[in-house]
Amino acid sequence: MQNRPKVLAGNWKMNLGPIEAQEYFRALKKELGSSFHPSSDSHGVIFPPAYALGAEVQQAAASAQIRLGAQNVHWEDKGAFTGELSGTALKSLGISWVLIAHSERRQFFGETDETAKKRFAKAVSLGLNVMYCIGEVLSERESGKTEAVLTRQTLPFIEVLKTQFAAGAQPKTTGSPIWSIAYEPVWAIGTGKTATSEQAEAAHRHIRKVVWDHLGMEAAQQTPIAYGGSVTPENVEVLMSQPNVDGVLVGGASLKPEGFARILMAAPR
Ligand code: PGA
Repeated sequence: MQNRPKVLAGNWKMNLGPIEAQEYFRALKKELGSSFHPSSDSHGVIFPPAYALGAEVQQAAASAQIRLGAQNVHWEDKGAFTGELSGTALKSLGISWVLIAHSERRQFFGETDETAKKRFAKAVSLGLNVMYCIGEVLSERESGKTEAVLTRQTLPFIEVLKTQFAAGAQPKTTGSPIWSIAYEPVWAIGTGKTATSEQAEAAHRHIRKVVWDHLGMEAAQQTPIAYGGSVTPENVEVLMSQPNVDGVLVGGASLKPEGFARILMAAPR
């Protein structure tokens, strides 16, 4: 097992507002109890809607040992981009994580590999921690295209890091920034149809191989790859017991503090 950072993340999507978020984190803290101590390379992150990223929610989250992240980030600092989020402004708000190219952004809001790459380049240049989402749709899996799709979707992530490494940046095991990938098979999101641990491991192994082929062994071994798609307190342990599964991205089951607490406690630390 490699000594990679682990990322245990919740994606609230367009659920829960700022008041509910504060209540959530107070309840989460209670659920976790005072004996819960994540290791220093295990990162608990929640991606709430943008209106729940303010200082009060951040404080409540921090007291439950959780960092907040934004569900999106734009490639420009500012300008005429209605509805988008500036990474610079997120940073000044104290936000250290961003989610990029979630499949709902790809499916419903026109996100492409090209725009995802621009967002990632910006996030990296700002020193933000990233979860970069990829994953095949059902028809792609059924027609045997899963690996080709994952390769195509991983390449923009790789190209950005290639530029970084050429400029002298190093892949890191500890500390930030963390540049992680979230593998989320679209057919498993919100469907209750989790990938089996074998399917997840095979996909993660493939993604790591693609990173290895283009960026070398060290970057491949140190890139956390989290699994997402109907993760629950019941299946988190078996998923994370796979050697290439370094975390989870949880939608529905992260909306209740009891559920997310059970996921944080069940995940190997
Ligand atoms: P789910 O969502 O856990 O509800 O399947 C995962 C996600 O969309 O990130």
